[in-house]
Amino acid sequence: MSVSPNRDPQASVEETSDAKRPRHVAFIMDGNGRWATSRGLPRTEGHRKGLQALRKVIRHAGEIGIETVTIYSFSSENWNRPETEVTFLMGLLRRFVQRDLSELHKSNVRIRIIGGRDDLEPGILALLQEAEDLTRSNTGLNLVVAFNYGARDEIVRGVKAIAAQVAGGELSLDDISEKTISNNLDTAGLRDPDLIVRTSGEMRLSNFLLWQAAYTEFYFCDLYWPDFDENAFDEAIAYFCRRERRYGGLDAKAL
Ligand code: FPP
Repeated sequence: MSVSPNRDPQASVEETSDAKRPRHVAFIMDGNGRWATSRGLPRTEGHRKGLQALRKVIRHAGEIGIETVTIYSFSSENWNRPETEVTFLMGLLRRFVQRDLSELHKSNVRIRIIGGRDDLEPGILALLQEAEDLTRSNTGLNLVVAFNYGARDEIVRGVKAIAAQVAGGELSLDDISEKTISNNLDTAGLRDPDLIVRTSGEMRLSNFLLWQAAYTEFYFCDLYWPDFDENAFDEAIAYFCRRERRYGGLDAKAL
């Protein structure tokens, strides 16, 4: 797959001013299983198709000048699925990294992994590490892959890291601020998502980016993830552009 290394923000959403365009879009790629079962196919076929949709989304994000795309690829709760499905999803992740990594690297994509790393199978961990290491200096689209990710788990790990700094005398209680917390989450250094898109008609966050989504706009669409394409992406962006973000303040017209 390829992603435009020199972002061309003049693609199909060209009427939108850059100032209004979301810079960070996060995706809850839901509905793979239902997509498959509604066609009499095994659920795994939905995940396979889901990977194809993901490729389209990454490519399009590069074309329209999105800076960061975060994908919820495997949650810390997904381990509770049947073993065959978990094994399939691990294989899919492996294939994604093995097949797409060099192309993504050529396209200047920088990959970052968020989620718990303890207890991950060493082969998977090495692969994720390789993707991050290879693309670390790239300056194009940031692709953040949430793998073995759960926001509460991320917050617990962050709180422990802060507590260790306090116990070690590197940080005083009075110096703990919102920034301290942000800096101790897996997403440290990343902009909070401007927009979270969830497919398949479900309207919940499912333990995704709970801290980071304080002021995020949400877009829910009925399409199952395998059917999500460039047009659906553009519609999500158009929706975002119509929103008035006030961050707890007042509309400019009301002042
Ligand atoms: C949710 O659909 C989707 C997932 C748990 C996995 C998402 C994975 C992909 C889109 C494939 C690409 C991912 C990788 C590994 C890079 P669901 O299975 O919960 O669907 P359902 O709600 O209809 O059952």
